[in-house]
Amino acid sequence: MLLSKFFLTVVFGRIVMLELKNISFEVTEGDKEIDIIRDLSLVIENKKFTVITGPNGSGKSTLARIIAGIEKPSAGKIILDGEDITDLSITDRAKRGIGFAFQQPVRFKGIRIIDLLRLASGRELSVASACDYLSEVGLCARDYIRREVNNSLSGGELKRIEIATVLARQTKLTIFDEPEAGIDLWSFQNLIRIFEKMRDGIKDSSIIIISHQERILEIADEIILLADGEIKERGSSAEVLPHILGTEAAMAPCSRWK
Ligand SMILES: Nc1ncnc2c1ncn2[C@@H]1O[C@H](COP(=O)(O)OP(=O)(O)OP(=O)(O)O)[C@@H](O)[C@H]1O
Ligand SMILES: [Mg+2]
Repeated sequence: MLLSKFFLTVVFGRIVMLELKNISFEVTEGDKEIDIIRDLSLVIENKKFTVITGPNGSGKSTLARIIAGIEKPSAGKIILDGEDITDLSITDRAKRGIGFAFQQPVRFKGIRIIDLLRLASGRELSVASACDYLSEVGLCARDYIRREVNNSLSGGELKRIEIATVLARQTKLTIFDEPEAGIDLWSFQNLIRIFEKMRDGIKDSSIIIISHQERILEIADEIILLADGEIKERGSSAEVLPHILGTEAAMAPCSRWK
């Protein structure tokens, strides 16, 4: 793992963590072929906090699943730390340090929260450290640590447990797909603090967050605006945010009230 530091690619003087080269993703529906991701190329630098945003259905989750290895692109290459990982399985990508928190959290029946955290971290996590991760996501650790991950947990609790597992893994490239979804306002403030802490303490790792939330967009090093499976704009939050907030789509609900 340490060796991989020496393989980090340098493109135009930037140290690259992840490179997507001409990625396309097509699905067949009946006799029609639909392009979900269209010839998308993207460089994610090391130590960067990137937020991907864009309208519903623009391909954000699909892109995240392609990076994590859940979907295979129809064309293109994925390079992590200079290594072509396009044909690697989800497990092999996870071993190389890709962590993924789903938009819809996965329910593992019959596993206790403490064991899920231990499994995710890949080490013999002490009860105290497991509690720390749960507290970070605003769950009162003692109440939860021995509970089972099943339908008795609310949607917001499941989502927070999922975020805790990703924090426990300490991955090289972490992707959060809409971490704010289903989380109440109070916990959302804590979530922002977690992300700010992650951004400020970033060391030889990168974070990609898919989000629609202005507060998350504001703390990004870089925002990527996706629409129709293509990158429409990318830049700092100061550059991109005014355009996003001023788009026709964003204004539409207001104009109805004029
Ligand atoms: N396997 C598939 N088969 C058919 N259509 C698909 C498939 N995967 C994704 N799509 C379609 O591709 C589009 C992009 O989906 P995706 O989930 O990536 O959107 P998104 O940008 O994450 O949207 P949201 O903001 O609503 O989460 C959607 O219209 C979706 O229905
Ligand atoms: Mg999505």
